[in-house]
Amino acid sequence: MAKIAVLGFGVVGSGTVELFYKNKDSIIKKAGTDLDIKYILDIRDFPGSPFADKFTKSIDDIVNDDEVTIVAEAMGGVNPAYDFVKSCLEKGKSVVTSNKELVAKKGAELLAIAKKMNCNFLFEASTGGAIPVIRPMHRCLAGNEISAVAGILNGTTNFILTKMINEQMDFAEALKIAQDLGYAEKDPTADIEGHDACRKICILSSLAFGKHVYPDWVHCEGITKITAEDAQYAENWGGAIKLIGSVKKTADGKILPMVRPAFICDGNQLSHVSDVFNAIMVYADAVDQVMFYGRGAGKFPTASAIVGDIVDAARMNGTSVSQTWEDSADNSFIADYKDDVVSVYVRTKGVSQAKVSEAFGTVEYISRENQPADELAFITPELKEKDFDAKLEALGGEILGKIRVLDMED
Ligand code: NDP
Ligand code: HSE
Repeated sequence: MAKIAVLGFGVVGSGTVELFYKNKDSIIKKAGTDLDIKYILDIRDFPGSPFADKFTKSIDDIVNDDEVTIVAEAMGGVNPAYDFVKSCLEKGKSVVTSNKELVAKKGAELLAIAKKMNCNFLFEASTGGAIPVIRPMHRCLAGNEISAVAGILNGTTNFILTKMINEQMDFAEALKIAQDLGYAEKDPTADIEGHDACRKICILSSLAFGKHVYPDWVHCEGITKITAEDAQYAENWGGAIKLIGSVKKTADGKILPMVRPAFICDGNQLSHVSDVFNAIMVYADAVDQVMFYGRGAGKFPTASAIVGDIVDAARMNGTSVSQTWEDSADNSFIADYKDDVVSVYVRTKGVSQAKVSEAFGTVEYISRENQPADELAFITPELKEKDFDAKLEALGGEILGKIRVLDMED
């Protein structure tokens, strides 16, 4: 018998409780032991809730109750989630979480505590929402050396880009719908500026390469500078713009994690991932490449991953089999993105083709309907990012847009 506590009764926490009771009988069969939710912790009151008898406002009720062996954290943020999760793990309770900020900033430490206490710290819901990707990378791909991971890791921004491009919806309106649907972070700046995708690529990088990658070490750009004109050029070029989180091994043995919008050609499956869906490509020596795809955010898709982890925590009670990685003292194993070789889409105003050729040599020009006479858009040949910056400066005129072309294998 295992008693569960759920921390946070917002979108994900309430989804977890509702899904658990909806499918309780089959969940218990899969867990191989009787399960029930004993506590729900939230700072808010929920008058008239069918779960009224379970609410508490005190974490001590949970930490000090030996009957509770599994805790599902869905409050978000680092404080006080970190203190609550740490206290539970130190008592030997397994913790499952959807909180990517917590895992990206404190994962190595919390995993070490779980190992020491012979319990588990699981976070399938932290990356890719409903998509099973953490466990498959940790277990099913264990025989591989992973060389790169690249994916659409944020449902809100993919939803916004899809609405802007397919329905010509305004950015603010698309964001409002994503918030109403429960996709966005409490502060949606984290979504649109790429910080949420950054936390997720930190988790995937740590998992793939065995050393904790902290968000501050990752170059990160969001979607706020993308315009409808850029999207039109991308379509005419034969692709789409997506916010991509990626990490790859570099020739000098380091790794390069990064988050940025990218031009992706039609031949790459990532270009066809729309709406709130996420997709993650993993490149590895034995499998070549595998793709994980599904809903990247939302109440029940995320609850699905949390409940899956609860079942695993119950099945693995008394053992510590969570994925794990070392903490890292410094970022000397992270490559400088300025040394990366890139090809870039550039949109300019008031720049001549002669100037473009002088700076970049032969480029691929792209056109769009109603293109102003003084506007040029082109894709550069491959060059180092730092050389690109210098050449762009030498162009003169006005730079209306610049977006890297995804360099991962198709
Ligand atoms: P919500 O804001 O909807 O839910 C969080 C809940 O926790 C709120 O009810 C909040 O109350 C409560 N809470 C906050 N602080 C405390 C505290 N100190 N003690 C008790 N309760 C507290 O967020 P979501 O459910 O959307 O997200 C939860 C976590 O899951 C986040 O880390 C998020 O990034 C992650 N996630 C979310 C997904 C989604 O689709 N929404 C998908 C995957 C992961 P109050 O509102 O009053 O602050
Ligand atoms: N805000 C996040 C997203 C939630 O939109 O992807 C899922 O992690």
